[in-house]
Amino acid sequence: MVQPSPIPDPPESASACCPYRVRMEDGVTRRPVTTTESRRASRAWWDRDADAYQEEHGAFLGDVDFVWCPERLREADVHLLGDVAGKRVLEIGCGAASCSRWLATQGASVVAADLSSGMLRHAAAGNARSGVFVPLLQCDAAALPFADGTFDIVCTAFGAIPFVTDSARVMREVARVLRPGGRWAFSVTHPMRWVFLDDPGDGGLVAVHSYFDRTPYVEQDESGVPTYIEQHRTLGDRVRELVAAGFVLRDLIEPEWPADLEATWGQWSPLRGHIFPGTAIFVTDK
Ligand SMILES: C[S@@+](CC[C@H](N)C(=O)[O-])C[C@H]1O[C@@H](n2cnc3c(N)ncnc32)[C@H](O)[C@@H]1O
Repeated sequence: MVQPSPIPDPPESASACCPYRVRMEDGVTRRPVTTTESRRASRAWWDRDADAYQEEHGAFLGDVDFVWCPERLREADVHLLGDVAGKRVLEIGCGAASCSRWLATQGASVVAADLSSGMLRHAAAGNARSGVFVPLLQCDAAALPFADGTFDIVCTAFGAIPFVTDSARVMREVARVLRPGGRWAFSVTHPMRWVFLDDPGDGGLVAVHSYFDRTPYVEQDESGVPTYIEQHRTLGDRVRELVAAGFVLRDLIEPEWPADLEATWGQWSPLRGHIFPGTAIFVTDK
């Protein structure tokens, strides 16, 4: 078992390796977690945080738009999924499902899936607001309720992958539900960010953790029950789990920070974005 490593006190406004929150309190540690602990914590966390997440990021994400990352890379511009018209697409970890609705407007037949009913409530609201209705499904990305070869494309922008104990299993599930030749593309926090505190300012420029320490980041309550868990894998880990699941890596995109982008998203900021990557997007084919 990997032992938790002590982590230094971060600046008041920062949390360690926790991209979606900029907050640090007692009860934060690094320790191994079980799959059950992880699923429970993620579901409860995203249910509780859904309103705040949408309040903070909803305008940036839009109701009908596919934004891959805080660096504002749009699928409409980069076409990482290829021509989606007439394709069967599954979005996992869809959150409010704006990516799915955008795909539907491009002629895809889409299912938007997420573990959290709180996030799916926002997805339903987005459907109603936009008039673009995509089917919504509550499920764990590690156990997809679809037959083999159901989809032409599976995708996610920051969904599911950073929050599961066994991301290699998610890769295998995605491979199973994809047809041969199908595409799997996903964005995650760039693994090198694990080295730094999640401080968008100067404090986030100092290396404090080992890149090679995969021990999960865990926030827990007074009884030691995890309330938020995030997982780190190195770039090499990701490539190995993709290859083991039968994928061929077509591209690994590290979006550069746009010169005109002033917005800060959690730990993503112009200051850090101009120096090192914040997002990695893996584009693969089965
Ligand atoms: C950072 S949000 C990203 C949401 C959306 N893709 C976006 O771009 O805003 C992460 C999402 O992953 C979902 N998630 C976490 N663990 C999951 C799992 N095991 N299976 C499916 N979805 C999961 C959360 O409920 C949440 O909606």
